[in-house]
Amino acid sequence: MKELVERIQKDGRILGEGVLKVDSFVTHQVDPVLMEQMGQRFAEVFKEQGITKVVTIEASGIAPALFAAKELGVPMIFARKAKSLTMDEELLTASVYSFTKQVTSTISISRKFLSSEDKVLIIDDFLANGQAAKGLIELCQQAGAQVEGIGIVIEKSFQDGRQLLEEMGLRVVSLARIASLTNGQVEFLEEDA
Ligand code: G4P
Ligand code: NA
Ligand code: NA
Repeated sequence: MKELVERIQKDGRILGEGVLKVDSFVTHQVDPVLMEQMGQRFAEVFKEQGITKVVTIEASGIAPALFAAKELGVPMIFARKAKSLTMDEELLTASVYSFTKQVTSTISISRKFLSSEDKVLIIDDFLANGQAAKGLIELCQQAGAQVEGIGIVIEKSFQDGRQLLEEMGLRVVSLARIASLTNGQVEFLEEDA
């Protein structure tokens, strides 16, 4: 997506270790106009799939997922990383290992919000090693829900996430695809949408 690629070129900052800082428009301060455009793009791409729920993970996946859900006319569910005091009902849970943080965390969604009737679009802000997306897929599988596709804002194509998800037979659509972050330069691949 041209607008996103241009915004990364303008406001993205490269940190060491292959990390792109986009805290002025995605991960901390959020640009609602750009988020809405991205939500509309995801909805356009997946509109024929009969999506009934958009699923993401807190925190930074929520903004793009919410706009995609609004455009598709369906609810958005965000998996929680910590158990909420009011989550006393039955939970779907999965373990997610973060290579970046080298910790395993448990993510969860209340069982009542996903069922075998659901066709799910998974959305997240970053795709690196794909472990967060894999955890969300596991939650959907536990509910018997069908994952129809995965929409990603920024894919780091030099990491293994896309390959992992495609090997599971899933369609991955990324609005920006980063080939490399070396020598202080952001190099892009052609984006999917
Ligand atoms: P993975 O899910 O693809 O395996 O990713 P990984 O464990 O490596 O990433 C851990 C966290 O870091 C995730 O957010 C992910 O979105 C984010 N992340 C990964 N690569 C980058 C990057 O280059 N730049 C930025 N800004 N973030 C990156 P999180 O901490 O779990 O969630 P959130 O609460 O920040 O949304
Ligand atoms: Na994220
Ligand atoms: Na993040």
